[in-house]
Formats: sequence, structure tokens, C-alpha cells
Amino acid sequence: MRYRENFGMFFAKDLRYPHTWEERKPTLHQRVLFVPPFYTEHVAEALPPWEDPEVFGKRGKVFIEYCSGNGAWIVQKASLSPDTHWVAVEKKFDRVQKTWARMQNNNLGNMLVVCGEALTFTTHYLPEKSVDGIFINFPDPWPKAKHAKHRLLQSPFVNELARILKDGGEVTLVTDDPPYARQMIDEMQKDNRFFPKFPDPYFVIEWPDYGTSYFENLWRTKGRVIHYIVFRRIA
Ligand SMILES: C[S@@+](CC[C@H](N)C(=O)[O-])C[C@H]1O[C@@H](n2cnc3c(N)ncnc32)[C@H](O)[C@@H]1O
Repeated sequence: MRYRENFGMFFAKDLRYPHTWEERKPTLHQRVLFVPPFYTEHVAEALPPWEDPEVFGKRGKVFIEYCSGNGAWIVQKASLSPDTHWVAVEKKFDRVQKTWARMQNNNLGNMLVVCGEALTFTTHYLPEKSVDGIFINFPDPWPKAKHAKHRLLQSPFVNELARILKDGGEVTLVTDDPPYARQMIDEMQKDNRFFPKFPDPYFVIEWPDYGTSYFENLWRTKGRVIHYIVFRRIA
């Protein structure tokens, strides 16, 4: 780690890949779990249990943000709730680097970053009923019909969310894209392990104190309506 003594802070570029492409394997390194793409030999043990000293070092509630981008939202949350544990999952390395630098500079021992694809990470590394809450803020909407197949919120992922969530845990989905909001609601309603928190139309458009992210700021300045959707995992 190249900690810049002179400035007393971490920079995004200080986080490097822990392995070459040829030698890649799931690795926990500097509070980042690297889950390599185009890889098949996943080993769940690469992520020790949450209470392990290498992860959070104690028991506590665990919340995951998928598609965490540059980490602005989750770093606010982790800073405001030091007794809960926060996991940022993001597939793009440059955004993981930014999140990591924010986490380090805020000295957040209650936060972990995953550099990996959401469904792959969840399927291979998270045990059943191991998570207290899930947030997905502005997942890529893939607005063109021919690209909609790439959307994250589809039944294989919803099925994984139901598996990892504890009973009573909530999934919060946030989007500015009305067709994707509709699809999210439909996908969640298809799974009878989830129940909507808000009455029909199953979303609200204001949530004071929810927290802000890069894309939330961007879409608000453009006047877009933000949809907040919450479904609860039922027993
Ligand atoms: C529109 S950005 C939103 C970022 C952040 N949540 C925000 O509100 O500023 C979507 C992010 O999701 C990430 N992403 C998209 N699909 C993903 C997946 N399957 N697994 C992990 N990250 C994903 C993208 O790399 C991107 O950083």
C-alpha cells in the first residue's frame, strides 16, 4: 500500500490488484474482496464469516449496497452508523478504488468492499440468511429493449436476495427509470418470499434522509423523479 505520508491520506490509485490476470483468484486484500471475472473456481472460504477479525471482527447487523459506484452513499451510511456493518459491491475497479480510498480516509473498520459482479459474488460467497438489509441505488437501467436482458433485477438475482436475507430484512431499490421501476416491482412480486412495504403503486418518490449518491444528485438536477421501492423478506 502506498500510503502518502506527506498528505496523510489514501488515494484511489493506491489500491492495486493483488494478483496478475493469469494468477487471479478470489482474494481478500486491504479490506477489498476481489472476485475475478471470467473465473470458475470460486471458493466461499475466500470471504471469512462477518465476525472474523479479517472482516468486521465482531457480530452486528450487515447491510449490503450493490452497484455502489464510487461509494458516496455507503460511506455516509457507514460513517453515521459505526455499530452496523456495510458491504459495497461494485464490478468496476476504478470505482472500487474510489470507494476504498473514501473508506480508508474515513477510517471505517465497519466497511468492506467487494470488487466483483453482484450475482457471482452473492451466489458463491454469501451464506443463507447472512444479511440484514440490501440496498441497490440506481442500478444500470439498460433502457434499450435489446439490452434489457442485462438488467440486474431479474429472477436469478431476486432468488439470491431471498436466500441471503434474514427474515424481516428489506430490499430497497432506487431508480429514476420508470420502466425499470415497473420491472423491479414485478420481479419482486413474482417471488412470494417478498412483500411490498408501500401500498400500490409500491413506491414513494420522496425519502428525506435516505442519503445521496453521485447518480441521485445527477438525476435530481435534471428533474427526474426518483422511485424508492422496498420489499420485505417474509418467513
Ligand atoms: C448508474 S451507476 C450507480 C452508482 C451508485 N449507486 C450511485 O447511485 O451513484 C451503476 C453502477 O452499478 C455497477 N454495476 C452494474 N452492474 C453491476 C453488477 N452486475 N455487479 C456489480 N456492479 C454492477 C456499475 O459499474 C456502476 O458503477
